Amino acid sequence: MLKEVIATRFIAPLREGGSLPGLVEADDFGTYVLKFTGAGQGRKTLVAEVVCGELARRLGLRVPRLVTVELDPELGLSEPDQEVQSLLRSSGGTNLGMDFLSGALGFDALAFPVGPEEAGRIVWFDAVVNNVDRSWRNPNLLMWRGELWLVDHGATMIWHHNWPGAETSAARPYDASDHALAPFGPDVAAAAAELAPLVTEELLAEVTARVPDAWLTGEPGFATPDDLRRAYARPLLARAAAIHERIQGIK
Ligand SMILES: Nc1ncnc2c1ncn2[C@@H]1O[C@H](COP(=O)(O)OP(=O)(O)O)[C@@H](O)[C@H]1O
Ligand SMILES: [Mg+2]
Repeated sequence: MLKEVIATRFIAPLREGGSLPGLVEADDFGTYVLKFTGAGQGRKTLVAEVVCGELARRLGLRVPRLVTVELDPELGLSEPDQEVQSLLRSSGGTNLGMDFLSGALGFDALAFPVGPEEAGRIVWFDAVVNNVDRSWRNPNLLMWRGELWLVDHGATMIWHHNWPGAETSAARPYDASDHALAPFGPDVAAAAAELAPLVTEELLAEVTARVPDAWLTGEPGFATPDDLRRAYARPLLARAAAIHERIQGIK
C-alpha cells in the first residue's frame, strides 16, 4: 500500500508536460503533484508510475515518494479553467500523487554533467521498463538540491496495452539513441552487474503490491488484481536478466 492522503485544495495545473498533472494540498499538509485517474491516458499510466517508480527507488534511483490521493470531484467547482474542471470532475476516488520537489529545475545536459555510472544505472533501468519518455527533447529528469531525480514513468511497459502479446513485445531490444543520458557514456554493463541481481521475484511482488486494487480490477483475461500484478512482474524479471545485451544506440 502507498500512503493515502485526501486532497483538500487544488492549487494549480502544471502545464509543462503532456498530461496536465495538477498541484494539490492534502490533509497531511503536504503538497503533491497529482496525476488524474480521469486523464485521457487512463489508469494504466498510473499503474506504470507506481510499478516503475517503486522499482526505481528500490534500485537506489531517486524518485519522489508516491502516495494515493483521494479526490472529491466537488473540488473542481470553483476551478475557472474548463479543462482542469472537467479533469477534477472525472477523477473522483483514487488518484496518484507524488511529493512536489519545490524549486526543482528541468535537467539541462549542458549545465549538469552526469557520470557514466549514474547514466548507466538510469539507462539500464529505462531499458528494463522500456521507458520511451526520457529523450533529450523531453528528459523527465529533474535537478533538485544538486541531485538528479526521475519523474514520469507513465510511458513504459508498452506490453501492458496488449497482454496476449506481452511476451513477444517484452522480448524486444531497447533503443537508447535518443535517451537524454546517451551522450554521457552510460556504463550499462556495470549497472546490469550491480542491479540485475536485485530484481527478484520477491522484490517485484513487493513493488506490484503497492499498486491500488482499484486500478487493477476488471482487466480482461485476469480474474484478480493479484493475477495482473504477477503479469506485470514477469516481463520485468526477464528483461532485468538480459536486456543489457540488447540496448542499442549507445557506445
Ligand atoms: N514531483 C515533482 N516535483 C516538481 N515538479 C514536477 C514533479 N513531477 C513533475 N513535475 C514537473 O511537471 C512536469 C510534468 O510532469 P510529468 O510527470 O512529466 O507529466 P506529463 O505526463 O504531463 O509529462 C515535469 O516535466 C516537471 O517539470
Ligand atoms: Mg513528462
